[in-house]
Amino acid sequence: MEKGIRIAELFGKEDKYTGKTVRVQGWVRTRRDSKAGVSFIELNDGSSLKGLQVVAALDRPEYRDVLERITTGSAVLVEGILSPSPGKGQAVEIQADRIELYGWADPAVYPLQKKRHSFEFLRQIAHLRPRTNTIGAVARVRNRLGFAIHQFFQERGFNYLNTPIITASDCEGAGETFRVTTLDPLKAVQAENPYGDDFFSRPAYLTVSGQLQAEIFALALGRVYTFGPTFRAENSNTSRHLAEFWMVEPEMAFYDLEDDLELAKEFIKHLVGVVLEECTEDLDFFTRFVEPELRGRLETVVNRPFEVITYTEAVELLKKSGEQFAFPVDWGGDLQAEHERYLTEKVFKRPVGIIDFPRSLKPFYMRVNDDGKTVAAMDILVPGTGEIIGGSQREERLDMLLEQMKLKGISVEDYRWYVELREFGSAPHAGFGLGFERLVQFVTGLPNIREVIPFPRTPGHAEF
Ligand code: 4AD
Ligand code: MG
Repeated sequence: MEKGIRIAELFGKEDKYTGKTVRVQGWVRTRRDSKAGVSFIELNDGSSLKGLQVVAALDRPEYRDVLERITTGSAVLVEGILSPSPGKGQAVEIQADRIELYGWADPAVYPLQKKRHSFEFLRQIAHLRPRTNTIGAVARVRNRLGFAIHQFFQERGFNYLNTPIITASDCEGAGETFRVTTLDPLKAVQAENPYGDDFFSRPAYLTVSGQLQAEIFALALGRVYTFGPTFRAENSNTSRHLAEFWMVEPEMAFYDLEDDLELAKEFIKHLVGVVLEECTEDLDFFTRFVEPELRGRLETVVNRPFEVITYTEAVELLKKSGEQFAFPVDWGGDLQAEHERYLTEKVFKRPVGIIDFPRSLKPFYMRVNDDGKTVAAMDILVPGTGEIIGGSQREERLDMLLEQMKLKGISVEDYRWYVELREFGSAPHAGFGLGFERLVQFVTGLPNIREVIPFPRTPGHAEF
């Protein structure tokens, strides 16, 4: 007999295993003793949402001594014959011949008893929450998407690039960086040489984006992508922001904004398509218990074209909407989450790309448009989540880049290498960043981003 079979495999290949002795190992979700003298145990091993029903006769000497200790949360091994199930809700069940208990879970204190728990409560037990249906399903979908991202780019000739986590630059220029230092914050710093004793002898930060370094490699390898952790100390306690999140950043030489937008659309459609086709069980679960419109929303993304409008058009639409927004809209102002959601959920009911933002709103590296007032930026918004992608064509003209840096107060000395990329073989290029958790949030319909990352970091929270 094999060492152990994953439960998901049994469901896919009932014919192969029915009538055979199999061994499964997992955690008990529920146990119910019937008057007919058998115990029904639902065993879950994380391979699928659905567990395997174990039927154990209560009077079998082979396992009678352990059976009474089989409680919700216990880890067990079960061997027995896989048989067609007469009961409702499952095609097969296992008739236990042998049951072994690895680890007991005391029902008096084990927190995950069979009932619904609030997401807030589950966050406090992040070491146990992956054993719940919701968080387990998120983990499987997240895994599948991570793989699909690599597949998408690898099939298109992109090179996977690891950009630094510790960096001296603040790519987005928003001042939301975490400092990296070995200095003791409680000890006074010498004012004349504040970084002299520090590890890097200069201010260093956790990266907010791998873009600037990705540009270096795009201007050598042509097409690259990063997929790594990024960090932002924005003090926004919202359902869409994390202090530590994962970003996918492709960067392409010889691409303009239009090419960039095309790739981003294709990318989103591809990823959503993978979830629709390959994560059906988990997606059905989310549609049933989390967001009834989810499946329909995802199908729309795959089947219908995206809408693309300029920032100026977006502002006009919002102004004449007659909607009462908490933040007023005016040309030159940032689009707030409420505005983004209005456009994608109410006006267009599908993903929307917004391009050509005011120069003043966006970072120094974006390419200035011919009007001199806007830059070749793009944001992609999706229903339910809002902004999921931010990107742009990069400023490849030396004189314009220097003008932008001056305007934004960015030191040419500090970014000498970035400027040199425009002095030596400069070329048009573009890229974007997809917030990985925003994507997982979008395809699972979960209201809070803290549920889609294993261990969320937010203001005041860095547990586990
Ligand atoms: O729009 P952003 O700030 O763009 C950049 O960082 C560019 N350097 C990307 C590039 O062109 N290579 O961030 C990109 C995406 C956002 O659209 C959003 O999905 C996500 O990252 N994001 C966050 N996700 C979770 N928590 C946060 N605090 C996030 N901030 C941005
Ligand atoms: Mg953005």
